[in-house]
Amino acid sequence: MGFRTKQVHAGVTPDPTTGAILTPIHQSTTFVQDSVDEYMGKGYSYSRGGNPTVRALEEKLTALEEGHDTTAYASGMAATVAVFLGLLRAGDHVIVADVVYGGTYRFADQFLTKFGVDVTFADASEADRVEAVMRPETRIVFTESPANPTLKVTDLAAISEITRSADALHVTDNTFLTPYFQKPFQLGANIVIHSTTKFLDGHNATLGGAVVVDAQELHEKISFARISAGLVMSPMVAWLTLQGVKTLSERMDRQSANALTIAEWLRDHPKVDYVNYPGLASHPQFELSSRQASGFGALVCFEVHGGAETGKKLMDAVELWSLAENLGAVESLITHPVTMTHAAVPAEERVAAGITDGLVRLSVGLEDVDDLIADLDSALDRV
Ligand SMILES: Cc1ncc(COP(=O)(O)O)c(C=O)c1O
Repeated sequence: MGFRTKQVHAGVTPDPTTGAILTPIHQSTTFVQDSVDEYMGKGYSYSRGGNPTVRALEEKLTALEEGHDTTAYASGMAATVAVFLGLLRAGDHVIVADVVYGGTYRFADQFLTKFGVDVTFADASEADRVEAVMRPETRIVFTESPANPTLKVTDLAAISEITRSADALHVTDNTFLTPYFQKPFQLGANIVIHSTTKFLDGHNATLGGAVVVDAQELHEKISFARISAGLVMSPMVAWLTLQGVKTLSERMDRQSANALTIAEWLRDHPKVDYVNYPGLASHPQFELSSRQASGFGALVCFEVHGGAETGKKLMDAVELWSLAENLGAVESLITHPVTMTHAAVPAEERVAAGITDGLVRLSVGLEDVDDLIADLDSALDRV
């Protein structure tokens, strides 16, 4: 079955009792059992462990990522935390890419270490640097590609090869490209994480997360962490996300096309110092991006002449673009990573990772691209 067919139909069948074409919102805490001996006979007992609406979304995401199974969470961070909780113990070592979403950095830096897990941040875009810091006790290498916010690209197959030969796991956050553009399991990853808050929902309506795994053993350990810590997604969020995912491919195609047009326009603008977009031939990993993904995504970052001060003025001057955190939805957003999404990363490490004070991040939406450019143009004129 093709991706578009799966995004509409996978995981969802008409409700057997009413024929409703949409999965009902099973807004119920508990599920009545037929007898003590047939406990869980219908598959559900208490919604912290599982819920039919949430399950429909999990099955859809498993089909789209071509993984083994999926668990859904209250947020993307809850998904990341469940992976760490389920798979790590004190004494383990984890390697986290030096550019990842700021919340992932913060959890690894401030919480994993508190529980006796050693963490090394390494430039995953150079696989040799990851290999150089592997240890016998390395259990997980955590990557994100393209990475938030600099859009640095990691060779996922090269990292998978390193983890496989070291008996470690490659966990990758596929939020930015989604399974429509990038299939990490085909590149050897073991676990794929999503903030469904972003492109999968796509409408700035929900907070959610998902973990897709390639093996039953991983699914069991991570599900156990989810039920134990109560990190689960709600049925209402699952239902809204199920509707959002149905148009994922169309949104990704259009938003990415808009992003490329904007990146090309910014590249030629006299007030812009540089633009990072993996779909520009000038991006240092353009060739790698073209090889491992079928699209480049809807995030663009750039720096204007005058650095942080001018960047901030620009973000205040736009009108159609909204100054806000989040990304991936139909509304175009403009973000200042240093004060917003990546405030948790210490200044020294931000600079080393290329997250400069003047960096501007765009999440390009579904509006007419001419309108988006006109608004940026008029704001750039005024700074
Ligand atoms: C790449 C990436 N992963 C994970 C997250 C965390 O997701 P959430 O905000 O749903 O917890 C974010 C949030 O911005 C993100 O950009």
